Amino acid sequence: MQNILYTQDGSATPTFKIRGFFYYWPSLAIPSNHFVDFMAQIKRSVRPLFTILLLTVFAITLSFRIIVHGGFFSSFDLDNNILIQPPVLFNSTLLKYAATDVAEDKSKKEIEQLLEGNFANKGRLRTFATWRRFHHDIKARSSSSIPVMLRSPIFYRYWLDFRRNLNNWARKKRFQADIMNELVRLIKHPIDSHNGLMGSDKKYGSCAVVGNSGILLKKNYGELIDSHEMVIRLNNARTERFEQSVGSKTGVSFVNSNILHLCARREGCFCHPYGVTVPMVMYICQPVHFMDYTICNASHKAPLLITDPRFDLLCARIVKYYSVKRFVEETGKSLEEWGSAHDGSMFHYSSGMQAVMLALGICEKVSIFGFGKLASAKHHYHTNQKAELRLHDYEAEYAFYHDIMENPRAIPFVSDKFKIPPVVIYH
Ligand SMILES: *[C@@H]1O[C@H](CO)[C@@H](O)[C@H](O)[C@H]1NC(C)=O
Ligand SMILES: *[C@@H]1O[C@H](CO)[C@@H](O)[C@H](O)[C@H]1NC(C)=O
Repeated sequence: MQNILYTQDGSATPTFKIRGFFYYWPSLAIPSNHFVDFMAQIKRSVRPLFTILLLTVFAITLSFRIIVHGGFFSSFDLDNNILIQPPVLFNSTLLKYAATDVAEDKSKKEIEQLLEGNFANKGRLRTFATWRRFHHDIKARSSSSIPVMLRSPIFYRYWLDFRRNLNNWARKKRFQADIMNELVRLIKHPIDSHNGLMGSDKKYGSCAVVGNSGILLKKNYGELIDSHEMVIRLNNARTERFEQSVGSKTGVSFVNSNILHLCARREGCFCHPYGVTVPMVMYICQPVHFMDYTICNASHKAPLLITDPRFDLLCARIVKYYSVKRFVEETGKSLEEWGSAHDGSMFHYSSGMQAVMLALGICEKVSIFGFGKLASAKHHYHTNQKAELRLHDYEAEYAFYHDIMENPRAIPFVSDKFKIPPVVIYH
């Protein structure tokens, strides 16, 4: 018997069904983006040999299953079909396009300028204000004016730290498919040690990622959310007065650096709607925000962790892939037109998407709340913001969440060495 399965490309591929079993075609350790080339080569040269090899693998897998199940029919469960199917065929044009960072040169240039101390560019007024405030603090403590700032040892120390932090970050920015397997070490260990625990490689038993959609107000998920071992909240959305809908426990406050940038203007960089002991994890959306980080990190009592740029890059590629794919499928337009439709160089994943990715890396089970929208619900549960930001493609991200739940193999760029844990989305 032969069944047709649709891959992410929408192209049909056959799977083989034998006596109620579907079989998985072992992935043969070929990186998926090379699979098409690989298949073409096979066709040209060693087809018969390949068929034999395949049948052998098939037979071995089959006998292994029989042993594992303790007999062919004894623990046979029709609802629990085992699949053998070819690896998902990713469209290599799409993969290549998604892996191209159109803003890379611009970003490199910006980083160089910052390292040289050039902050005077337009669009950085707020950061400038942060600096001015900082200058004021110093001025207030001295009788003379501006040149003191330059001689000030505090300023100088911040300046050196800023350069070091930005430099380290910029140097690490490259693609690494198995970065997901490092998230426990990068994020969970420092949090554990802050909580007085030994950093073990054990993941959190269960995690809730709580988005800020107004749909939460229609449900009473508060208790359910708080029952998770780790609760990750987004962009400092407050919980008080909304406890019944969103719960009150917070283990990690996940933000983008714009949020910290706003906090940096407050007394003592105050940025703690969940309490000063709750760790923050933040991704850098503009390199200039390292200034805010450098100043705020010094006064934070709980860890203020920056996501690894390799993790950022992985998230960026995945979301761009989903966005471009949807774009060409739904509009019938060419790839190249995606950039202008989505503000190419500004395009970014949302904080929610990266928080979900983080949870996949540090948790055994992931529950997602408050993602999605309804015409009848507010955009955010805690604000009156009306519309979504254009630099995100939420529809593409929903397609991604759907795949982590139903079809994890369809997710590009993530290394085979990483296993996506079970995910439930609460609507
Ligand atoms: C891959 O996607 C591109 C862009 O949508 C399309 O032009 C091309 O035909 C696709 N290739 C395959 C093999 O499906
Ligand atoms: C941030 O602050 C913590 C605690 O003071 C410190 O251990 C850490 O080294 C700082 N991080 C950076 C990158 O400066």
